[in-house]
Amino acid sequence: MNIKIKKILKKKSKSKIVSLTAYSKNIAGILDKYVDIILVGDSMANVLYGLKNTHKITLDNIIQHTISVKRGVKKSLLVVDMPKGTYKNKIEAKKNAKLILNSTNCDAVKLESNSKNFDIIKELVNSKIPVMGHIGYTPQFKNKFKIEGKSKKSSNKLFKEALLIEKAGAFAIVLECVASKTSKLITDTLKIPTIGIGSSNYCDGQILVTDDMLGLSGFYPRFVKKYVSLNRLIDKAVKKYTRDVKLDKFPTKKNFLDGSKFGK
Ligand code: KIV
Repeated sequence: MNIKIKKILKKKSKSKIVSLTAYSKNIAGILDKYVDIILVGDSMANVLYGLKNTHKITLDNIIQHTISVKRGVKKSLLVVDMPKGTYKNKIEAKKNAKLILNSTNCDAVKLESNSKNFDIIKELVNSKIPVMGHIGYTPQFKNKFKIEGKSKKSSNKLFKEALLIEKAGAFAIVLECVASKTSKLITDTLKIPTIGIGSSNYCDGQILVTDDMLGLSGFYPRFVKKYVSLNRLIDKAVKKYTRDVKLDKFPTKKNFLDGSKFGK
C-alpha cells in the first residue's frame, strides 16, 4: 500500500486529518507544508472557471491542473477528482483513472457516489488504484443543495452507502453536508477515515475549498470559515500598482535592467 495512504489510515481516531483543495503549483506548495491531503477538486469548475456547476470539467482540465499541483507537492497525499461522466462503467472508470494516475503521478482518485457505483470502486481498487469515496451532497449527481442524513430514512441510506463504499475497498470517504448525528455514526462505525466538509467535527478530518477559506471565491456558507479576505488584499495591491503606473512611480531606476543582473 502507498506509504502516504498508510499514514492517513493510522490517523483514524488519533489525530485529525487536514485537507484542502489546490488547482495550481504555487498554492499547492504552500498547502503542502501543513496538510495531509491535497485534493484537485472538480470544484475548480465553479471556483476557477466560473461555471454554474461541476458538470463540464473535462479529464484534460483535471489532468493539466494536477500536473501543475504535483510540481508543488513534496509530502502530502495527492488525490484527484474524476470528472462527471468519466466513470460511468467499469471499463471507462479503469481507463480514465489509469490515465489520471499515469499522466500526473498522483496518489489516488476520488469518485462521487450515486448510491450504485460500488462495483466501480471495487474494480479500481482491484486494479491497484486507490480510491476515496464521496457521499452526502454530491454535486455531480445532485442539482439542488440539500443537507443529507437529517431524517432517519436519509441517515440509514447514507450509513449503508458508507458501509458499502468501505466494503468496496475505498481508503477514505468524504462526507459533504451531512448532518452531525449521521457523520458521527458513520465515523464511529467505519474503519476507514471520514473527511468532512459541512459535516461537523465528528469526522476524522476536514476539507475546505481553499479559495473559500482564503476569501477569494465569494462563496461563504455557514460551514466555511474565512481565515483571510484575500480578495481585499489583492484589490488593494492592484489599486496601488495602477496608481503607481499612472503617476509614473513604477518602474523606478531600481527596477531598470540596464547594466545590472536580471535577479535581485
Ligand atoms: O471538488 C471539490 O473540491 C470537492 C470537495 C468539496 C470535497 O469535492
